[in-house]
Amino acid sequence: MPRALQAIGWTQRPLPFLERCQRRFGDSFTLRILHWGDWVLLADPDDVKRVFTAGAAVGVDVANPLLGPVLGARSVMLLEEPDHLTRRKLVLPAFHRKGIEADAEMMAAVARREVGRWPAGEPFELWPRMQAITLEVVMQAVFGRGEDQRLESMRERLQALTEWMNDSRNLAMLAVFGPRWIVRSRSYRAAMAPVEEAVMDEVRRRRAAGVNGDTDIVSMLVAARYEDGSPLTERDLRDELLTLLSDGPTSTSLAWAFERLLRNPEKLARARADALDGDGAYLDAVVQETLRLRPPVPVVVRRLLEPLRLGGYELPRGATVAPCIHLIHRSVRYYEDPLRFEPERFLAKPPGTYTWIPFGGGVRRCLAASFAEMEMKRVLRIVLAGVDLQPAGDRSERVRKSAISFSPDRRGLVVAERC
Ligand code: HEM
Repeated sequence: MPRALQAIGWTQRPLPFLERCQRRFGDSFTLRILHWGDWVLLADPDDVKRVFTAGAAVGVDVANPLLGPVLGARSVMLLEEPDHLTRRKLVLPAFHRKGIEADAEMMAAVARREVGRWPAGEPFELWPRMQAITLEVVMQAVFGRGEDQRLESMRERLQALTEWMNDSRNLAMLAVFGPRWIVRSRSYRAAMAPVEEAVMDEVRRRRAAGVNGDTDIVSMLVAARYEDGSPLTERDLRDELLTLLSDGPTSTSLAWAFERLLRNPEKLARARADALDGDGAYLDAVVQETLRLRPPVPVVVRRLLEPLRLGGYELPRGATVAPCIHLIHRSVRYYEDPLRFEPERFLAKPPGTYTWIPFGGGVRRCLAASFAEMEMKRVLRIVLAGVDLQPAGDRSERVRKSAISFSPDRRGLVVAERC
């Protein structure tokens, strides 16, 4: 197919497009997409393992053209080695399991407050409500607790930026004109500039006040030093903080978890019983199964810095390879009845290292994976134990491409009754 047609397939109906290609060409095939470039898709876990463990033979590339301008070139997600690992080491301690356990109660409190605002007896969209929760959680993790009032305007500015990024007209312009359009877009600058201003004001305020230990991520980053003793530059801090604050996958995953549970009443009853009085094992399995069946990021990409043999082909240096989370997660070879929402499969057997990869893998694996899983579980528990949700409408929601991740097409339309 011509590049322009492949671009239409990828931007309009990406998941069916990937499935069609796999049926026709097998587990490795090349997409040639206008504005995006050429990607060698990989749907065999052995190939994915080879990529994730290739060390210095693979470098950074991005699947989503929004990421470059929004996150910035000094984001951990976009840095090349050795800068990437150096930065990752600075940020990772903030997301260590021990540290994030202290965040569990904060996550539950944020969810409780949000649930208290939901209307009873009338349809509303769950996805924006989940965005409100995940934004609040990440802001408290980054800036610390008890900063509610002062950060109000930053919260509003971040919400406006998220709306801009998820506006279907902007996504259509991006598909037609490519990433360079964003940088020139006045409406993008109008949404981004106030966010940058608020984030940098906060950084400068922390610098001036001196750092109060390392209780929150911004204080930790302001205090951090590279091996030569130099601090992060303003550019480093802007890009790193925007990266953490732009979390999109957690809210879409939560919206999907509820959507799938509400369409499967038996699973919903079991999840609610676990939320009310269980050991949490079923809720863990719900999180894992949601991330399997509706991975918010369907592919990750890497650029080869050395030739590598993948899918039976010798791929040259410079090629872009794309481990395909979506295709691996719904293959009958690794999952029985893969299209079924069946959390029980993960009670029987834990997820496989290369057959369950919603967080990517290797040295670039999502550094907030444990944080995100814990947040999903906390929010599920609060909502399921406190509210009786019903789906609004008869049909299951379809997967729609949004700015950073893949979301339910009716934004998770539900009706809530208090329990
Ligand atoms: C369910 C929720 C989430 C999912 C499914 C998810 C998924 C991903 C994926 C697929 C990648 C790319 C990995 C790769 O290329 O191998 C990634 C990277 C990353 N994610 Fe997440 N993510 C989630 C939540 C979060 C949250 C809450 C944050 C921060 C607050 C975050 C921060 C990052 C960062 C900083 C990276 C770059 C890591 C690096 O390049 O070293 N993610 N995530």
